[in-house]
Amino acid sequence: MFHLGWFLGTGFGVYGWNTPWAGNVAQDVGNPGLFADMAAALERAGFDYMMLEDSSVLPDIYEGSFRHSLKVATVRFDPLPLVPHLTRRTRHIGIIATAATTFYPPFLAARLYQSLDHLTGGRVGLNLVTASPHAAAQNYGLEQHVEHDLRYEMADEWTRTVTALWESWEPDAVVLDESTGVFADHTKVHAVHQQGRWHSSRGPLNTIPGPQRRPVLCQAGGSPAGRDLAAAHADTIVSAVVGVEAMREFREDISRRLVAHGRRPEDAKVLFLVDPVLGDTDRAAQDRAERKTAAMAASLENALAGLSYVSGIDFSRFDPDEPFPDVASRTNGHQSTVADYQKAGAGKTLREVALTRRVAESIPLVGSPDTVADQMAEAMDHAGGDGFLIASPVTRRGISEVADGLAPVLRRRGLIRDGYEHATFRENLLAF
Ligand SMILES: Cc1cc2nc3c(=O)[nH]c(=O)nc-3n(C[C@H](O)[C@H](O)[C@H](O)COP(=O)(O)O)c2cc1C
Repeated sequence: MFHLGWFLGTGFGVYGWNTPWAGNVAQDVGNPGLFADMAAALERAGFDYMMLEDSSVLPDIYEGSFRHSLKVATVRFDPLPLVPHLTRRTRHIGIIATAATTFYPPFLAARLYQSLDHLTGGRVGLNLVTASPHAAAQNYGLEQHVEHDLRYEMADEWTRTVTALWESWEPDAVVLDESTGVFADHTKVHAVHQQGRWHSSRGPLNTIPGPQRRPVLCQAGGSPAGRDLAAAHADTIVSAVVGVEAMREFREDISRRLVAHGRRPEDAKVLFLVDPVLGDTDRAAQDRAERKTAAMAASLENALAGLSYVSGIDFSRFDPDEPFPDVASRTNGHQSTVADYQKAGAGKTLREVALTRRVAESIPLVGSPDTVADQMAEAMDHAGGDGFLIASPVTRRGISEVADGLAPVLRRRGLIRDGYEHATFRENLLAF
C-alpha cells in the first residue's frame, strides 16, 4: 500500500484563473469553498493529506517587475487560518500548512500549530521551509536572505526549539481535578530555556498539548542540507526528483540519513510529485497530454518566470536561444531544483529546457485510471517509496478525476487505504 497527498502549489491562492473548468474562481478568491470541497473529496478518496504551500512575497525577480505575477494571479493568503475550515468539513484527512523557519519566531509557531492541533482534533501538519527570495526576507525586516546552507542550520535549531516547547508540558500535566481545584500540575510544566545561536525561547508554552502533541512535520528540501533537516525531523518528506531511478536513490539516501539520526527508515514517509493526466481511455488521455505539452510550449514567459522564482535570478535577461546559462553555482534559491535544470540544460538552449521541463513531476502518468494505477504500482515497486503527492492543476473537475476516478481503482486493487483506523493524522500516516 502507498500514501496519497495533494500539493497546492500556490497555497491558499487562486487556482485556474482564466482557464476552462475553473468554476467561479474570480468570485471565489479568498473564499474557503473550493478548498473545503477539495478536502472532502480527498478524504472520500482516502488521501493522507492536503498540503498548502506558502511564501511571503509577490515575486518580482522576473523582469524586476510585479507584472507577470499579477497577470497570472500569484497571490497567496496566509494558509494557517484556512486549516480549521478544512477540518470542519472532514473527519480524518490531515492538513499540512507551510511556515518559514527563517521568519517565524519559534514560540509563535509552536503556539500557533499547537492551537491548530486542538482546533483540528489532531490533524494539522507543518511544512518546514527556509524560504528563499531576498524580497521575502526584506518583508520581515532583514536586509538580504541568509545563505542557503546556513538557512538549514538555523532551521534545525528552530525545529529543536519548537519541539522543546511542544514538550514543555508532560503528558499527564493536565489533571482537571475538581476536588482539589487544580487544573494542571505545576511540577509537570517546565520552562525550556533554549539558548541557541539564532533562536532562543524561555517557555513553557501557555497552551496545553494538542491531540498529537507534535504536529506532523513535513520537509521538501532536496540538497544534502535539506535532506539532513528532513531526516532529523520530518514525518513525511516530499520530493520532485525526476525518474524512477532517482526516486529509488532518493528513498535509499533518506533511509540512510534517518538511520544516521537514530531513526528508522519507516519513520518518515517519502512522497513523490506527480501530475496524472487521466482520460476515459488511454487514447483520450494521450490526446490531453499532447495538448498540455503544446500549451506549455506556448508559454515561454511562464516557464522563465518560474525559473526566476526558484533560482532568484532574472531569466528575462538571457537570450532564450543561447545555451542554458551557468546559474547553479550562483543561486541562493532552491538549490537541487536549479541543479536539476542545469543538468538537463547541458547541450541545450534555454528555450528548449524551459519549455520541456516542469518541477511538478517525478514520473509522467498518462492513461485511463486503470493504466495510471498500473504505472503508479510499478513505480512504487521499483522506487520503494511511500506514495505520491499529486500536484495537478486545481479545479473541481481535476480533483474529481483523481478522487472519484483514479482513487477508487487504486483502492479496489488494495494499493491505497480503505479507511482511516486512527484518530490523528500522525497515527494514520505512520500506520503503514
Ligand atoms: C513538493 C514541494 C513543496 C514545497 N513547498 C514549499 C513551500 O511551501 N514554500 C517554500 O518556500 N518552498 C517550498 N518548496 C521548496 C523547498 O522548500 C526547497 O527550497 C526546494 O525543494 C529546494 O531544496 P534545496 O534548496 O534543499 O535543494 C517545496 C518544494 C517541493 C518539492
